[in-house]
Amino acid sequence: MRKKFFNGALFAAGIFFTVACNNVSKPKQTSGAADSLQNTIPDSVSFDAKVDNKQVKLYTLKNKNDVEVAITNYGGRLVSLLVPDRKGKLVDVILGYENLKNYRELKENYFGALIGRYGNRIANGKFTLDGTPYQVDVNDGPNSLHGGSNGFFKQVWDVTKVTGQTLELSYLSKDGEEGYPGNLKIIVTYTLKDDNSLEIAYHATTDKATVINLTNHAYFNLNGASSPDGITNHLLQINADAYTPVDSLLIPTGKIETVKGGAFDFTTAKAIGKDIGAKDQQLAYGKGYDHNFVLNKHRNDKVVVTLSSPVTGIQMQVFTTEPGIQFYSGNFLKGDDKNGKGGVAYKYRSALCLETQHFPDSPNQPGFPSTVLTPGKAYNTVTTYSFTTK
Ligand code: GLA
Repeated sequence: MRKKFFNGALFAAGIFFTVACNNVSKPKQTSGAADSLQNTIPDSVSFDAKVDNKQVKLYTLKNKNDVEVAITNYGGRLVSLLVPDRKGKLVDVILGYENLKNYRELKENYFGALIGRYGNRIANGKFTLDGTPYQVDVNDGPNSLHGGSNGFFKQVWDVTKVTGQTLELSYLSKDGEEGYPGNLKIIVTYTLKDDNSLEIAYHATTDKATVINLTNHAYFNLNGASSPDGITNHLLQINADAYTPVDSLLIPTGKIETVKGGAFDFTTAKAIGKDIGAKDQQLAYGKGYDHNFVLNKHRNDKVVVTLSSPVTGIQMQVFTTEPGIQFYSGNFLKGDDKNGKGGVAYKYRSALCLETQHFPDSPNQPGFPSTVLTPGKAYNTVTTYSFTTK
């Protein structure tokens, strides 16, 4: 009874909130009015709120070509990214929501978010550092995923610098937060450049040995976030001759296996849908692609991924200093509500993620590059998403 009343009150409050937000002002139209798809930056008023006693806002960066990126400091999330298609029309290529309420309440936790302290999985949430065993929050069956239930994606980041094309966010992850050792100070800088690239620079220091693996969890659809076309028509090339196969719970076995000739071979561009339905144990475990690729080159001046949409002609290239990338083909998106931008339901495989990272479960895999950060050392990585058309 009490619960029913509470749910009813929440529902009413939700309606009030939505109506109130809708009445404030209409979202700014950035693209052709005839286009029914949502290619606008959400109304910033819908993001103005106090969470954990901290101010949340929506920030917009814009370059000389009218490319725009909207970022909220709630979870340090990319909310919208408007880039030109082959006709010059701006298309929002990132899935997300139009208001903070949805980001806080709906079940897709990671849309556009900064992920940490440890992106991807740690087996059983356990690892040992300098002889001390640690147990971190377990939130994915028996394993820990993306930093735990209250990972960085749910935290309000401090806005430490904002200019027309740069947003600097900072966060102090306290010793013991989600079970991780050490006070970790993180600075993430988003820079929208005039060559239509978005750079994300990550910096962190700690006062005790810890493990760290930071990434961004943007869900891309180069047909447009609210497009009915999924991502299986996208062409994908990954400069990776190998990947890290997993067990049924997506924990790496520790092996590094060649992709050559199989469903995981993206060394030359191919449509994502081409082999996604192939009879393959690894694809069955991932319900599609949800795997870490071992990048051949990982310096920020080398392209590691090229993705393009034959519909819009938008091409995205990824550059990173990281050794790996998780290619996730949106297999858990369900599309059972219409809370996406423009009132669309985000359906199965309507977006994909390309999470630059160190390999999953590295703290328990001596053969993988180390994710340990010690006092006196700095963690610095850079990932760039660059947009052109073809
Ligand atoms: C990551 C994981 C996936 C899934 C998504 C979020 O990409 O690897 O298994 O958890 O996040 O749904």
